[in-house]
Amino acid sequence: MSRPDHRYVCQSCGAVQPKWAGRCEACGEWNTLAEETAPTPLPKGLRAGAAQRLELFGLAGASQAPARLSTAIAELDRVLGGGLVEGSAVLIGGDPGIGKSTLVLQAGAALAAAGAAVAYVSGEESIDQIRLRAGRLGVGAAPVQVTAATSVRDILGTFDQPQAPDLLVIDSIQTMFVDSVESAPGTVTQLRTSAHELIRFAKRRGTALFLVGHVTKDGQIAGPRVLEHMVDTVLYFEGDRGHQFRILRAVKNRFGAANEIGVFEMAERGLVEVPNPSALFLAEREAGVSGAAVFAGMEGSRPLLVEIQALVGPSPLGTPRRTVVGWDGARLAMLLAVLEARCGLAIGARDVYLNVAGGLRIGEPAADLAVAAALVSSLLDRPVPATAVIFGEVGLAGEVRAVSQPEARLREASKLGFDQAILPVASAETARLPAAAPGLRLSTLRRVGELIDVLAGVDPAVEPSVRRARLID
Ligand code: TYD
Ligand code: MG
Repeated sequence: MSRPDHRYVCQSCGAVQPKWAGRCEACGEWNTLAEETAPTPLPKGLRAGAAQRLELFGLAGASQAPARLSTAIAELDRVLGGGLVEGSAVLIGGDPGIGKSTLVLQAGAALAAAGAAVAYVSGEESIDQIRLRAGRLGVGAAPVQVTAATSVRDILGTFDQPQAPDLLVIDSIQTMFVDSVESAPGTVTQLRTSAHELIRFAKRRGTALFLVGHVTKDGQIAGPRVLEHMVDTVLYFEGDRGHQFRILRAVKNRFGAANEIGVFEMAERGLVEVPNPSALFLAEREAGVSGAAVFAGMEGSRPLLVEIQALVGPSPLGTPRRTVVGWDGARLAMLLAVLEARCGLAIGARDVYLNVAGGLRIGEPAADLAVAAALVSSLLDRPVPATAVIFGEVGLAGEVRAVSQPEARLREASKLGFDQAILPVASAETARLPAAAPGLRLSTLRRVGELIDVLAGVDPAVEPSVRRARLID
């Protein structure tokens, strides 16, 4: 029997249910329902009372650009859209141990060193631990005010003063609680209420707010997602803990472009900015090996070259194995089906392993052609030319489709010394290419099957009659 003043809230999607169950009916996650006290119901409808007449405005008119604080970390500023906006709330999500606390402490220390008033509230670590980390990062001398606290009432009581700090860091929002709410810290209700109170304070005082949030295994912020709509900016800190690269990605930004990324390296003394990530992602590449292709991708406004590696081998099992790191497994299945059906490649019954080197996650469909090239190259044991970059989307009919911003991709490739680009015909036609990328030879494709000719060193545009037969058998 459920008690009338209690309800069960899914900690993954926020759905409310009257009874406990092992599985959330809304999102299908297991073991995510937690008991919470129901809030006192609001009165239904508007009661009698005087309403204020609202002032109405037109769209035109002079509005000032928001005042921004530079964090002195160029990669962070870029992701924020040009610096930290006063009074804005920024959610920084990421897996435990990825480097969120390190990032916010470095940013806070840099701001404080530049003269801003910065407060850092930790609900997870002791003052000594924070000091130790600051010492390790070499920012021990920065005038950051540090405290260990979890009560939102105490935090606001301390900082909601006329002399409010310019930046308040809350690490992490999951540890915060509002004492008038009965649920445990970390539950959806506590998370929402704590964030709401802190954001209201930030807006009122013009304090910029960093909220650190842990991500659960399925990639959402725990108590998850429920904060995304409340804040101005959502940044995710991603990367593989086994790799040193870290990507800071803006997935929502009311003050700048979403999808913008910043690249860092986790080093001995904290996070180091990587101004030229393509060079870094390609640093350990081996030339002349089959199964590797360089994808010219875009992350927000920034071109990024990464190596895609594939290994295709005979499968000892009835159901072939598919392992994908850094790319979408469903997309791989689709691409394998297209290669099998449209190019006559016997690839469906083989084991396939796919990896994006460096721990990056790629979401763009433009990677299709590069993945196909890596797969075909591994299957046929033919290396992709080492100085070629590849991009293009592949459709179910085997057609190669145009992708956005071909010029930026090609310019990056040419800057890094590549001399060939394999790309969709349609992209080559739309772009003002030779001017954009001097020194690049373009191999244009209409169909994904033409990749096989390119791997054999035949330009399909020049010798369309030469076909792949001899390579396949
Ligand atoms: P941390 O910022 O504590 O992660 P989060 O707050 O996201 O949980 O970073 C933890 C990891 O970073 C830890 O495993 C050690 C590593 N690290 C370094 O490699 N170098 C450093 O200078 C610091 C401070 C951390
Ligand atoms: Mg931390």
